[in-house]
Amino acid sequence: MLVTHIVSAGAWIGIDVMVAVLVLTGRFGSSDEVRGLAYEALATFVVWPMLVSGLLTLTTGLILGLGTRWGLVRYWWVGIKLVLNLVLCTLILVALRPGMDEIGAYGRDLVNGAPEPAGVSDLFFPPAVSLTTLALATVLAVAKPWGRIRRTAGTGSTRS
Ligand code: HEM
Repeated sequence: MLVTHIVSAGAWIGIDVMVAVLVLTGRFGSSDEVRGLAYEALATFVVWPMLVSGLLTLTTGLILGLGTRWGLVRYWWVGIKLVLNLVLCTLILVALRPGMDEIGAYGRDLVNGAPEPAGVSDLFFPPAVSLTTLALATVLAVAKPWGRIRRTAGTGSTRS
């Protein structure tokens, strides 16, 4: 389960890197054809693999938390990763996916040599925010900082 968790988190990070490459190519590509194809690839291939890897990371993380001494909300590093994972998966659905049809159409217009349309909203933020958040989650997973969320009152001992 830990291997699947690490592999799915790694795949998610890899997909984010691919998104960053496509966004940069769409913006700064050498020709309209190249730029348009990058936007079309972005609209066609990105959302579902990203969501699947995010949900797989979440599911395996939940199983690991429930099946080990770490729990889900017992340690700060697990609880924070849970929140980050939920926020990112929600953002994929509510912020990224709805704009994909527009980006695909924009890409097709560029490839077909149509006059430059109105343009797409700024796409640099999604990969930047996601990569930063996933890097933070990886640091939390490896360093496991800050200990337990609650301590038993009075004794100073820790809850299991
Ligand atoms: C946000 C994306 C996530 C990333 C990038 C991530 C990354 C990682 C990595 C790299 C490890 C291996 C650490 C090590 O062995 O030293 C790990 C372990 C672990 N993760 Fe995650 N994780 C994420 C989400 C979650 C979630 C949502 C949960 C649970 C709610 C979770 C629970 C755990 C647990 C309990 C372990 C330790 C398992 C063990 O050693 O027995 N993770 N994670």
